[in-house]
Amino acid sequence: MAISADEIFKEFKENSIAEFFRKNRQMLGYAGKVRSLTTIVHEYVTNSLDACEEAGILPEIRVEVKEIGEEKYSVLVRDNGPGIPKNIVGKALATILAGTKFHRYIQQRGQQGIGASGCTLYAYVTTGKPIHVRSSTGRESYECDISIDIKNNKPLVSNLKDVDLNFRGLEVYGEFGEVKYENSDHGVFEYIKRTALANPHAAFSILDPYGKEFAFLRSTNVMPKKPKAIKPHPLGLEPSDLIEFAHRSDSRKVSSFIMETFSRVSQAKVDELKQLVSFDLSKNPKDLTWQEAEELVKAFKKIKWMAPELDSVSPIGEKYLELAMKNIINPEFISVVERKPKVFRGGIPFVVEAAIAYGGGAGKRGENQEEVGGNIIRFANKVPLLFDSATCAITYAIKNIDWKRYSIKDFEQEPVSVLVNVSSVFIPYSGVGKQAIAQEDDIVDEIKLAVMDAARGIQRYISNVRSRNMAESKYKTIMRYVNQLSNDLSELTGSNAKEIEESLKKLIDSKYKKLFEEAQENSYVLNEENEEKKEGGEEESMG
Ligand SMILES: Nc1ncnc2c1ncn2[C@@H]1O[C@H](COP(=O)(O)OP(=O)(O)OP(=O)(O)O)[C@@H](O)[C@H]1O
Ligand SMILES: [Mg+2]
Repeated sequence: MAISADEIFKEFKENSIAEFFRKNRQMLGYAGKVRSLTTIVHEYVTNSLDACEEAGILPEIRVEVKEIGEEKYSVLVRDNGPGIPKNIVGKALATILAGTKFHRYIQQRGQQGIGASGCTLYAYVTTGKPIHVRSSTGRESYECDISIDIKNNKPLVSNLKDVDLNFRGLEVYGEFGEVKYENSDHGVFEYIKRTALANPHAAFSILDPYGKEFAFLRSTNVMPKKPKAIKPHPLGLEPSDLIEFAHRSDSRKVSSFIMETFSRVSQAKVDELKQLVSFDLSKNPKDLTWQEAEELVKAFKKIKWMAPELDSVSPIGEKYLELAMKNIINPEFISVVERKPKVFRGGIPFVVEAAIAYGGGAGKRGENQEEVGGNIIRFANKVPLLFDSATCAITYAIKNIDWKRYSIKDFEQEPVSVLVNVSSVFIPYSGVGKQAIAQEDDIVDEIKLAVMDAARGIQRYISNVRSRNMAESKYKTIMRYVNQLSNDLSELTGSNAKEIEESLKKLIDSKYKKLFEEAQENSYVLNEENEEKKEGGEEESMG
C-alpha cells in the first residue's frame, strides 16, 4: 500500500542554521584534527585583526595553545582591540550569521558572521563546555561564559560579572576536542607566522603546547590604509545579489533602490534602464521577482558604465611586504610586485600582490632540512590560506607558469618562495571554509601576470648566482691539481717546481677568481638596479 503524503510529512521539521552546521561542521573547516585547531586560531585571530584595524589600533595578539587531554586542547586568544559591549557579546560570539560585517561592502577578513560562533559551537559539541570571555571596552569590563542553544541558534550567557582587567580588548578561552597540534605546513605556528608576514603592522606572541614562547614583532608602526566601504558596481551583480539587496532595501521604488544601493547609477542611467526592461521601475523593490532581477542584470550589461571605484582595496604594499619577508624569511634576494587594481565579473575590484624570495631561508625544507623545494604562500585579504591548495586560483596560476624562462629549472627543487595576496571587498572563495580562491579567469590571469613580473626580477639574480657558483667550483677544481701539475712539469722541463706553481696560480687566479668576483659584484649591483627599476616603473604607471 502506498504511504500517504500526510504520513510522510508528519516528520516535517525546520532546522536552525546552528543545527545545520553541527551536522556539517566540515563546511566550516572542522575536518581533520590539525585543520580543526588551525581553524579555531584562524577565526579568533582574523577577528582580532579586523577589530583592531577598524578601531585604528596597532594589533598586539597573544595566542596560547595547551594540551589538556587526549586530542583535547585549550586555545586562548587575546587582543588589544576595542572589545565587545556586554549586551552584544553573546550574539556576536554565539549566534551563527550574526556580526557587524556581512551587510557591508568593505574589505575585511570576516564576511559572514560564522567564524567565532562556529568555534563556540565546536567547543560545545566536542567538550560540552562554554567558552570563557573577558573583555574591556574602556567603558565596561566584564567576564562571562558563553555557549550556544543549537536548536534556536541563540546564545546562552552565564556567570556574567564585572571585573577589573589589566588589558583593553577581547580575550576568548575555549576547550576543544578532536583537535591536534602539529608543527607542519598546516599547523597553528605556520598560520601565525604567515599572518605576521602579511600583517607587518601586527605583533604576535605565542605559547605552544610544549611550553615554548615565540614572538613575531611588528616590522612597521604604520597602520595599513583603511579600506573604504564602496557600493557594489552594477556589472558585478548576479540576480540573487540583486534580490537580496532589493528585499533588504527601504526604498519605495526599484529605480531609487538601484540609485542608492549601487555605484555609478545616475538618473540618466535609470532612464536608459527603463527602455531595456519589461516591467515598471516604480514598483516596490521588496516585490522584485527573480525574472525581473534577471532582466535587470541583462540590461546592466547593455549599458556603458563608468568603471568601479578602485580605492576600496587595501593591499599589504610593496615596501612592507619586502620588509616583512626580510624579517621573517630572510632570503638572499626578494622581488616584489604590486599590480594596479583590476575588476572581475565585470564589476568587483581586486588587487594582486606577488613576492618571490630566493635563497637563504626561502623555500620549503624537507624533513632532513637539506632538501629544499619551491613553496607557495597564499593569502586572501592578508589571511593565510593553508588548506585546499589544489583547487585554489593562486596554486593553479603559479603551477601554470613556465618557470624555466625565469632560470628556475624545477620549481619543486629550488629554494624559492612565491607569495601571492589577493585583496578585494569580495573574495570568491570556493567553499564556506574560505581556504581557496575560486579559479575565476580574470583573477587567474592577473595572478599569473603579477608572479611573472616578480619572476623577471629574480631571473637575473639567479643566473648571476649560477655563473658565480660555476666559476667558483671550476677555480677550486683546477687549484686542486696545480701542485701535482707543477711537480710533473718541473720533472719534464727541469725548471723550478715552486716557480711553475706560482705562475700557474697567477694565471688561474687572473682568469677564474676575477670571473666569480665579477659575478658577485653583479649580483650586488642588481639589488640597486632593481630598486631603480621599481621607481621607474611607478613613474611609468602614473604617466
Ligand atoms: N576580537 C574581537 N573584537 C571585537 N569584536 C569582535 C571580535 N571578535 C568578534 N567580534 C564581533 O563579533 C562578530 C562575529 O564574529 P564572527 O567571527 O562570528 O563573524 P565575522 O567575523 O563577522 O565573519 P566570518 O564568519 O567571516 O568570520 C564580528 O562581526 C564582530 O562584530
Ligand atoms: Mg570572523
